Amino acid sequence: LLALADGQLEFSPESTELDTGGLSRDSFPKDFIYGTATSAYQVEGAAHQDGRGDSIWDVFLRQPGLEVNNASGEVTVDQYHRYKEDIDLMAKLNFDAYRFSISWSRIFPNGTGKVNWKGVAYYDRLINYMLQKGMFINYLTFVSPFCITPYANLNHYDLPQALQERYNGWLGRQVVKDFADYADFCFKMYGDRVKNWFTFNEPRVVAALGYDNGYFAPSRCSQPYGNCTAGDSGTEPYVAAHNLILCHASAVQRYREKYQKSQKGRIGILLDFVWYEPLTRGKSDEYAAQRARDFHLGWFLHPIVYGEYPKTMQNIVKDRLPKFTKEEVNIVKGSADVIGINQYTAFYMQHVTVNKSMPPGYQNDWQVGFVYEKNGVPIGPKAYSYWLYEVPWGLYKAIMYVKERYGNPTMILAENGMDQPGNVTIPDGLKDTQRVNYYRSYIQQLKKTVDEGANVIGYFAWSLLDNFEWRLGYTSRFGITFVDFKTLKRTPKMSAYWFQKMLSRKH
Ligand code: NOJ
Repeated sequence: LLALADGQLEFSPESTELDTGGLSRDSFPKDFIYGTATSAYQVEGAAHQDGRGDSIWDVFLRQPGLEVNNASGEVTVDQYHRYKEDIDLMAKLNFDAYRFSISWSRIFPNGTGKVNWKGVAYYDRLINYMLQKGMFINYLTFVSPFCITPYANLNHYDLPQALQERYNGWLGRQVVKDFADYADFCFKMYGDRVKNWFTFNEPRVVAALGYDNGYFAPSRCSQPYGNCTAGDSGTEPYVAAHNLILCHASAVQRYREKYQKSQKGRIGILLDFVWYEPLTRGKSDEYAAQRARDFHLGWFLHPIVYGEYPKTMQNIVKDRLPKFTKEEVNIVKGSADVIGINQYTAFYMQHVTVNKSMPPGYQNDWQVGFVYEKNGVPIGPKAYSYWLYEVPWGLYKAIMYVKERYGNPTMILAENGMDQPGNVTIPDGLKDTQRVNYYRSYIQQLKKTVDEGANVIGYFAWSLLDNFEWRLGYTSRFGITFVDFKTLKRTPKMSAYWFQKMLSRKH
């Protein structure tokens, strides 16, 4: 491996650093999709250009001192202006697809009503450029005969602030109709070209971090700490989640009734799933791990597949848990053509008895303890983020669990990756050996699930670029491409070349 003077890495063909561990395009079925993922607030920047309205994250992060260095997504990696360069890079690295999200407040600055046509035009440019990669321009230049297929997600945490103010955002039932109208508009505008839709990314994170511990916007919780506003952690996470599920189902209903037949696309949802492994073989830890899976993944996937919340949740949360009416069950049950699973890590689970003096709260309802090591051995090597351990077998177990418990739905591994600390620099930051090992071992485990019959049709790495990592700001780098946050220059890391090699096509 050589690091050249201008900072770019270069590899000789025999370089062992890019060892794919036997993986290649042929490791998975023929139409398997490989992509990278990002989200609007984390990469676009231009937060107040061309008429975009505030989202709850813009407002949340304006509190001085909340974030390290008062970081925000105001500029971040400026994909709003640099999307061509980024899409060129995806093509160069041999990816097939790009998963991005649409900023609701770029399209409807007030959440509803007046359309911001400049915002609409941005996603037209983005989508058209992805598709163009496979068209005449490349026919002439022979750069790449393959287009980048758009995978569009309608919401990635960034609710328009106007709706937070109007009816308390996800807590207000009106959001169900407003989200369906926004989704409908996107299907109408982009559905001729976008054939892969997701309604939400990680709605569990929105409900739990937004309304139980207040770590994320809109930052409500019962026991105020930090900058949290007073809420009710025993009920609000469940109400928010219920509305998020109904938003999802209503948007899917619109798509199916008005667009799916003519546009011939697919729609689903993106759910985060940590693998929970019982700490001991004892029954109580096994139940604890199962409870954790139900409260985490089952909270959303159970209604979507079976039309009701998991029994464990019904028994514990009782009347604090909203119920679906008959009409709601009809639209919720079966409301996904594809399930996206964001999978990064695994934890051990231990049973704990509830402390009755604690006020009820979503996390307390789990009645578990999180444990990160067993007999002094950590569950896996640590990445930079406090929650991220490298546990490839956890991915295998997570996917096989969805296969068994939820009837082997069509799945996409929709996010996977690890981070380095923000202060690494070129050239050291480019030599991301641990990330290469991480991707190699996780994708090998994914292959094993497919070989054993799991219906997984695609894989997306998080992320194409270093970007704005929410409460960690720019102190965490998840990219396979290094971004200098001052100059915004992009430099592929070793892991980017690893993907390029693994995904190379035989002509
Ligand atoms: C989950 C989220 O979808 C994404 O926004 C975040 O950056 C990554 N995982 C890494 O934490």
